[in-house]
Formats: sequence, structure tokens, C-alpha cells
Amino acid sequence: MKRFFSSLLLVMVSAWVIAQRADYRIIPLPKSVQTDTTQVFTLRSGMGIAYDTQNPQVAQNATFLQQWVMEATGVELALTPSDAKAAVRLIQGTQTDKKSKKNKKKQQPQQLTPQQQESYTLTVGSSGIEIRGPQPEGIFRGVQTLRKSLPYRGVLLDCGRHFFTVDFIKQFLDVMALHGCNQFHWHLTEDQGWRFEVKALPDLAVKGSVREKTVIGPGNNRIYDNVPYGGYYTQDECREVVRYAAERYINVVPEIDMPGHMLSALHVFPNLGCLGGPYPVAPYWGVMRDVLCGGNPETLDFLKTVFGELCDVFPSPFIHIGGDECPKERWQKCPKCQAKIKELGLTSDPKDDGAGGRGSQDGKSAENKLQTFLNHEIEQFLASRGRSLIGWDEILSGGLTEKSIVMSWRGTKGGIEAAKQHHRVIMSPNVYSYIDHPQLKDYSKQPQTTDSYQVSCSKIYSFEPLIPDQLTEEEQTCILGVQANLWTEHVAFPEHAFFQLLPRLGAMCEVQWCNPDQKDFENFKARLPQLQKLYDKLGVTYCHSVE
Ligand code: ACM
Ligand code: ZN
Repeated sequence: MKRFFSSLLLVMVSAWVIAQRADYRIIPLPKSVQTDTTQVFTLRSGMGIAYDTQNPQVAQNATFLQQWVMEATGVELALTPSDAKAAVRLIQGTQTDKKSKKNKKKQQPQQLTPQQQESYTLTVGSSGIEIRGPQPEGIFRGVQTLRKSLPYRGVLLDCGRHFFTVDFIKQFLDVMALHGCNQFHWHLTEDQGWRFEVKALPDLAVKGSVREKTVIGPGNNRIYDNVPYGGYYTQDECREVVRYAAERYINVVPEIDMPGHMLSALHVFPNLGCLGGPYPVAPYWGVMRDVLCGGNPETLDFLKTVFGELCDVFPSPFIHIGGDECPKERWQKCPKCQAKIKELGLTSDPKDDGAGGRGSQDGKSAENKLQTFLNHEIEQFLASRGRSLIGWDEILSGGLTEKSIVMSWRGTKGGIEAAKQHHRVIMSPNVYSYIDHPQLKDYSKQPQTTDSYQVSCSKIYSFEPLIPDQLTEEEQTCILGVQANLWTEHVAFPEHAFFQLLPRLGAMCEVQWCNPDQKDFENFKARLPQLQKLYDKLGVTYCHSVE
């Protein structure tokens, strides 16, 4: 499902040259844009693209559009003749033609300048999308504009480190909707707790969701509260979140993080670890050495059971498989992992990609290729359910699987590399979008957070996700959008969560929605009081200082 703010539309600039775009950013900027935020149009699988089937060039444009919408969103549009009812219409003609058709006047043929031949009008209204151009070339340009305005405006909430109630998540979705976000990335599993009910494996959530105690204070000082902590979502609750989000035109992207960050599952199924356990659900934070065994065939059986039920519950075209922070120490010494590496004929091709990252080994080692093998198996499985795979940028290390989407978190480097390989990318670089980090320089003015660097509103606001100095225009079309991530090692309560989120989500949503030349941080700050009034109305906390 893809939402277009029909914020769009339509301004006459000259007799012919008309261009449309939504509030969201596209480059190059169309010549003119007029917006109307009162209407919304949502593209869904099964809807049609109508075009004149007798016109081979327009037919080619329709096929391109169908393919690109599928690639960007997972939405499958059908090709239909122009007299059929359809969500998207490609029309060779001009605005003048349209008017004269309405008035039943015959239109005189006109000589087109080269610029006019490339002109187009893209109109989004509540009943659909129209791309109109006097020549197929103009329609093609309009299709590109629509393609580029397929944004992913996401927010991640980590419910693994701390559990948040469904009521809180609904409020979180309300706040996302207020900021025009359309993707809720729900991080459902962690070393510190498994939060998703799997009916075929009932112990997984019942036992894997509970840790015996939690580390307190900054860092991992190994001082514990000695209080058991748990909570998980039933599948009915997950469906309720999906329904509530869909009413607000938000898609829920669920994440099961594998093969690392799996101690909660290993606690329940120690046979899935290389050493056989026992493995406690982690009571402290960090990157754990114990991960799923990559050579045990039961690991894939387990993952297919889990992802199968995940697909039953979440209709999202995208499913996140994690893939981050999976140290390979255990795999290097595990007889099963090494036997699988041999069986698959994987060899090391060490090449430091320089991306760094906590606990990760970059480069094409045989073990990283074994992770790619797991990703490939899961990608095929998800594809059989009509879904696309998203993974954190470590999935680049052993080689990307065919259609994987990369979520770039260790800076933008992984995203750039993936876009250059023509893979789709979501930009979520830690230094700009990790809102678990402090927003103010003075730590005494904010609750305890992950404290290695500051992610201020102005820092977020300055982010330029299309990386125009490193990506060509074609490569920029691989950037689906931007995401802010709220990790919750140090965020246990709703008030704290909203304090971390706001008003930084305001800054992030202007990155998501505005063109670089429209952004002005001083102007943003001047408009903030209005947003704060809305936060007050919603009854959510927020940080009053802005840096
Ligand atoms: C991550 O922050 N480990 C994706
Ligand atoms: Zn192993």
C-alpha cells in the first residue's frame, strides 16, 4: 500500500509546461507545484494503470511505471486499456485538449517546442493519479516524477529492549500521523526480549519475553535491578496495531532481527546456538557473541516458521530481517557452520569495506557469506509470500541478495554502496537519525540516554538523504526514504519515549517532506510553537529546548 498525499497538484505555468509534485521532495524540482492537503489517494495492489494500448510508446511507459511501483512499494498494479476504470491514467494530450474535450470543441494541432514535448502534468486527486503529456516523452518524465515521489517516511520503535503497551503504540502512531510518516518499523525481537507471539512455538514469547533482571545506570556497569521484566504482543494485538495504523495510512514493517540479537530465542531453543547453551535472556545491553547457528538446518526451519506467521499477521510489502551486529566468532569455530560453509563452497575474500560498526566484521569472509546464504533463503521464502526483504547495512558484507533493500545505519556509506548496486535503500544513518541519543548538549537537562554523541534537531534537519554529491540522479531514485530510530535501552516509559521523539520527529519530517532549498532551520524553529500546541493537545511530552 502506498499513500500519496494528494497534496499534489497542478499548476499552469505556460500554455503547456505544467509539472506536479507532492509536498515531498523530488529532484529536480518541477517547474511548478500546487498543493491541496485535503485529499489523499492510496495505491493498492490490484488497481490499474490505464493507457492507450494502441500507442506502443505510452504502453512502454505504463510497463515501466508498473515495474517501478512494484520495486519501490511491493504494490502490484495491473495494465488496463484506457477505457477501463483505473487508479493511474497515462494520457497523451494537453490540458487544452482536456478542456476542449470537456467543451466538446475540436482542438487544432499545435507545433510543440522541444521543451513542450517534455512537459507533463501529474495530478493526484482523491480518485486517482493522472499523468498527461503532449508526447510520450513528457509522460515518461511524469512517470519519473511519480517514481521519485514514492517516499518511505519511517520511524522505528524498539520494543525488544523495553516493552510498550498497545495503547502507547496507538498514541505513537497518532504522533507519526501528525508528522506525515507512513512506515512504522516495529522492532519486535532482541537479545533482551522476544515480543511476537508465534503460535506454532508458544514458549518462544512466553519464556523468551522475560529477562530475570535489567542493568541500571549508564552503560553496562553490571549493576542490576533484580526485577524480572517481560511482555509480548499476541497476534490479535499485532493485528489491532496493523488496523489502527492502516486507518492512519501507516504501514507496519515488522522486524525479526536475525541471526544476531537472538539470545531471547536461544534461551528457549538452545539447540539453535553453536554451543548449545544454556543462554539467559540478556539482562544487559550490547552486541552478543552468541547468535543463531548458521549451519544447523533447524535454524532455517525455525526462521521459516517465525517469518511465516509474521507474514500471516502483517500485510506489509516489506519485512525486516535485521542482519546487524552478528559477530562471527562462534561460526568460525562451530563444526556445523564450517561444514555448511564447505558444503556451499564459500571461501573468504577479505576486503575491509571500512564501514566499521559495533561487533561486526565487514568484508566478504566465508562466514559473512554464510549469513548471505541465510538471507537468500529467507528472501526466497518472503518472495513466495509476495514480500520484499529489508536488512540493516551489514547485509552488504557477505554480498547482497538479489532484491534486498538496505537500511543504512552505520552512516550513509552502506546506503550509497547499495544504491550504486541498484538496490533500494532507506537512509537511517545513526549520526542523523538515532533519536535514542541526546538532543541537548547539556545532559543534565534531559533523561539518561545512549550517550556517545549528540543528535540535535539542527543536526537532523541538516541531513540530505539523496547524497547528490555521491549519487547520480538515477542512483538517487534508489533512495526510498528516511527513517528515525528510537532504540530503547535507556527508554522504559512513554513520557521518556516522547521526550526523545519530539520535536526531533518534526525536524526529521521536514527532511522527509521538503526540498533542500525549502529547508530553513530558523524558520522551522519559528514554526515550532504551533506544533508544540498540537503535542499539548495530544497530551504527549516533548523536549522544550531546541538546539
Ligand atoms: C543497529 O543500530 N544495530 C541497527
Ligand atoms: Zn554454528
